[in-house]
Amino acid sequence: MTMGLHKGDIIDIELVDLANGGDAVGRYEGLAVFIPGGIPGELVKVRIVEKKKNYARGEIVEILRAARERIKPDCPVFGACGGCQLQHIAYENQLEYKRKMVKDLLERIGKLEDAEVEPVFPAAHPFLYRNKAQFPLAKDRDGKIIAGFYERGSHEIVPLESCLIQHPLINRTMKITLEILNDYPDLTVYNEIEHKGLLRHLVIRAGICTNQVLLILVTSGEELPHAEEVAERVMREMPEIVGVLQNINPERTNVILGQETRIIAGQDYYLDYIGNIKFAVSTNSFFQVNTLQTKNLYDFVLDFAGLSGEETVIDAYCGLGSISLYLAEKAGEVIGIEEVPEAVEDAGKNARLNGIDNCRFITGKVEEKLPELLAEGIKPDLIVFDPPRKGLAKEVIDAVIGVKPERIVYVSCNPATLARDLALFKEDYRILKVQPVDMFPNTYHVETVVLMSRVEK
Ligand SMILES: C[S@@+](CC[C@H](N)C(=O)[O-])C[C@H]1O[C@@H](n2cnc3c(N)ncnc32)[C@H](O)[C@@H]1O
Repeated sequence: MTMGLHKGDIIDIELVDLANGGDAVGRYEGLAVFIPGGIPGELVKVRIVEKKKNYARGEIVEILRAARERIKPDCPVFGACGGCQLQHIAYENQLEYKRKMVKDLLERIGKLEDAEVEPVFPAAHPFLYRNKAQFPLAKDRDGKIIAGFYERGSHEIVPLESCLIQHPLINRTMKITLEILNDYPDLTVYNEIEHKGLLRHLVIRAGICTNQVLLILVTSGEELPHAEEVAERVMREMPEIVGVLQNINPERTNVILGQETRIIAGQDYYLDYIGNIKFAVSTNSFFQVNTLQTKNLYDFVLDFAGLSGEETVIDAYCGLGSISLYLAEKAGEVIGIEEVPEAVEDAGKNARLNGIDNCRFITGKVEEKLPELLAEGIKPDLIVFDPPRKGLAKEVIDAVIGVKPERIVYVSCNPATLARDLALFKEDYRILKVQPVDMFPNTYHVETVVLMSRVEK
């Protein structure tokens, strides 16, 4: 049927949907064509850049009929960068598309046609919100060190002056650090193809409520010439920087951080707040990237938890204990489980920092530690899940269904795996609320909090 469609062809196509991933979708002779930068309802002229058996990809050549919600993206590298996918859609419409995305995935993957999805809780600040950046480094034609992003579909690093979704502290740290690094021409940058060169990434983390910054220079080797001088100079230029660290990643990998982190100057953590709770965050610990919106996310978790002060709560995938500590005041006891030892250390430190003594944290995989806890006879009234994008392992769901806590609050950053997992709870748990929260404005990502309660049989 689509024998005629080939790479390089130019076709007119009507866009009908927005896929998980942010591309618009049109159908050409029954074949789905994915088109970044499009909006449902638009008629566009596209060039086919990839043709597979079941789908094709196109790039817009001309917009023949624009959607009403189309706006001009503020970022000069929108499209080339790939970090944001939705800057061309007015913010309130982004929220509608995200709600529809969650609803469609629950229906299509989870067969959960009855689940009502609330309107997406908007972010007060759709730009300048991110508290963490990881910039790859390269040298330009003049030999100057640049920080940037990988151009879509390539390994070319395109320089970036500033990123509109990053907090200004991060952009300022990047600029100042590059200026200083460029005073040392003997510093080399890493080339991933040749696996040679020293400086790999700048990782910058910022405390949005405290104005504190942690600067991490990721290197391929141990020897970092001028390290102390560079650290001393950046900290003098920017007193907000509380620590300069070197992380060593000698592997041939696209994982950014290596195992070993050394302090060059200052401290190895920064502080931030979610609501009234203070957090120390170190290099390897996960911390939600949108600090201000995290308070709203956790307020939904707290509300859905419905705690009276007596309950035993398990916070699975607890990171540095942020949800545990947020719920602690209203719970009897909270037990957090997390696999990254550094994050568990941070969790203990954070409990002490806030004078909270009814939380304990266990290092290990949820797949192993949760069944162990349940087998030991711990009877949770509530389990909070906040897994990474891949969602829950089947054995975790089976273990929970074995003991049936009264409530489950599932916080998900991937509605596709959420839908898959909720389907497995269907016999034993009723979905009471599905609340998406916009933690990542201008990108296709959406966070969802789901409240489930045990079905009495
Ligand atoms: C999405 S984060 C949530 C962290 C925390 N709840 C928060 O809001 O900041 C997921 C966390 O799960 C941890 N993790 C990933 N896979 C895990 C596993 N199999 N067992 C335990 N923890 C895991 C990650 O290190 C990360 O800290």
